[in-house]
Amino acid sequence: MLLLDERRGVAPEADPAFLSDVLAGLAQGQKAIPARWFYDHRGSELFEEITRLPEYYPTRVETGLLEKHCPEVGRIVGAGRAVVEFGSGSSLKTPHLLRAIFPAAYVPIDISGDFLRESVADLGQAFPALPVFPVEANFMGPVRLPAEIAGAAKLGFFPGSTIGNLVPRSAVDLLRGMIDTLGIGAMLLIGMDRVKDEDVLVPAYDDAAGVTAAFDLNLLHRINRELGGDVPIDLFRHQARWNDLWARIEMHLVATADLAFTIAGHRFVMKAGETIHTENSHKYDPRSARQLLAAGGWSPIREWPDADGMFSLFLAEARPEPMAP
Ligand code: TRP
Repeated sequence: MLLLDERRGVAPEADPAFLSDVLAGLAQGQKAIPARWFYDHRGSELFEEITRLPEYYPTRVETGLLEKHCPEVGRIVGAGRAVVEFGSGSSLKTPHLLRAIFPAAYVPIDISGDFLRESVADLGQAFPALPVFPVEANFMGPVRLPAEIAGAAKLGFFPGSTIGNLVPRSAVDLLRGMIDTLGIGAMLLIGMDRVKDEDVLVPAYDDAAGVTAAFDLNLLHRINRELGGDVPIDLFRHQARWNDLWARIEMHLVATADLAFTIAGHRFVMKAGETIHTENSHKYDPRSARQLLAAGGWSPIREWPDADGMFSLFLAEARPEPMAP
């Protein structure tokens, strides 16, 4: 049981940024809540479950690509780099890379200290000789790398098509920020999900077993629990839709009836059919992927797609700013 703040119903241990994001997001014309609030303990569990769903191909396909192509990545980037992973989570894909490239060190960056401690312990067992320097930070802001790797060449690692969860302008900001963190001369291995048939994309974000729906709806449970809300969760349903203009899958929580609720003393009303936008997953074809990388300051070097054109790994390099033609 959480102790509730008498005045507003907000649990004292609730993150104040969660409250302000929810109140500001629900006050917009198109209601929206930043996707980072999905990941409470239950949300993180449900997300791990999503990655194992038959409809959710990205994890499977990307893991296959890493198994197959990391030896070649190793030949291109050379031995002795410090691998810096952005949003390392449970670091399940990382061993494929670490095994193949003879790194000098591994630096997982994650906002969740719990995840970091777990992955450091697991990797320590698998790679006892590898120095690991975890950094607990939000990689969307400036990240200060540990002094121990100051002299090493860097390889950034950003799998999972997480770049697609950002709108392009934020994706470009992040890519440029990665250069500030890693330095000119760094390389980046990044996974991006490709544009494909809606019949394949939509089920990946709306599976038959209802796990993605539970993941999306868990956000409302979290609001009710932590922020003392009275959102009528049974009157919402999960929806995944393809937005062709932006080339992205969107997840929405759809109000199935006219309804009203209160969060921390603020009242919100929604019409039947109105939605709360909860996630974007932008998809990139090979050209738009390379343009995104270039816009973020990274020169594309190689692309490894799978045989069915589902997903691609890209290797890119941060080169000194050339004189423009
Ligand atoms: N980045 C992955 C993707 O967009 C994983 C992901 C992030 C995801 N948020 C999600 C998957 C929500 C399903 C639902 O596919």
